[in-house]
Amino acid sequence: MGAKIISGTEIAAQIRAELKQEVDRMKEQHGVVPGLVTILVGENPASVSYVTGKQKTAHELGFHSIQDSQPADISEADLLALVEKYNKDPKIHGILVQLPIPKHINEKKVLTAIDPDKDVDCFHPVNVGRLVIGGPEARFKPCTPAGIQELIVRSGFDTNGAEVVVVGRSNIVGKPIALIMMQKDKGANSTVTVVHTGSKNMDAHCKRADILIVAAGVPGLVKPEWIKPGACVIDVGVNRVGEKKSEKTGKMVPILKGDVDFDAAKEIAGAITPVPGGVGPMTITMLMRNTVMSAKMSIK
Ligand code: GUN
Repeated sequence: MGAKIISGTEIAAQIRAELKQEVDRMKEQHGVVPGLVTILVGENPASVSYVTGKQKTAHELGFHSIQDSQPADISEADLLALVEKYNKDPKIHGILVQLPIPKHINEKKVLTAIDPDKDVDCFHPVNVGRLVIGGPEARFKPCTPAGIQELIVRSGFDTNGAEVVVVGRSNIVGKPIALIMMQKDKGANSTVTVVHTGSKNMDAHCKRADILIVAAGVPGLVKPEWIKPGACVIDVGVNRVGEKKSEKTGKMVPILKGDVDFDAAKEIAGAITPVPGGVGPMTITMLMRNTVMSAKMSIK
């Protein structure tokens, strides 16, 4: 029997509809409108496209949203002053500086200049620390890992006591999703193993997984025989493996492949995310959820 395909596109739409209701309620009951600023330095085409997507979604949800574009040669001092301006702005609940930023600016300095209570990316060391501690301290969750957790929970998988194996130890996905899934919390409380480039017997660890989360950035790394029958497989990899002509527009578009051999894996797994259309659509939605949460916290 083939696996259930976990549609990130559908689940993200469902969460956005829930958020829209919450935003409307906050406006009506408290006169508070969630405010999000996205700061873009320079004109990197991928960054322009990401920021445009974030602003479009913020607008659709009825946020107060600002797209603040700055020239690539902005000084570090000026960028820090801009972040400080938004830190002090009571109408802004979420600040996102789109990465990467030009090399003459210290990225760490900029990320730590953001008020942790407005750090909707959850990249500030204070928020990473809160995530490690868990409990009510951990207010924001980083967007991609938060999206992965929602995909697992909303697909009906019981995470309580489940064997979760994470492939990859990046700061953006591997480490935080491991922290999230091991918390004593709903949608978590799992037994977590992290495997990485230094691991021996990666296949043996993967074979134990009730929930297998792969974020390695290596196309087809996880072989179908590594998957436990019935497992939930979340493929975070988005690897460009070539180009093809789009049937819709006739333009050349990238061919994207995940870290898991999808066609073979779907015959073994109980549920699996496609690439594209799996984890990807969840990330922006979780950014919106963090901004709504931040706005809620501002209500006295
Ligand atoms: N660049 C690529 N992805 C992200 C993200 O999630 N947040 C920020 N700030 N920059 C990015």
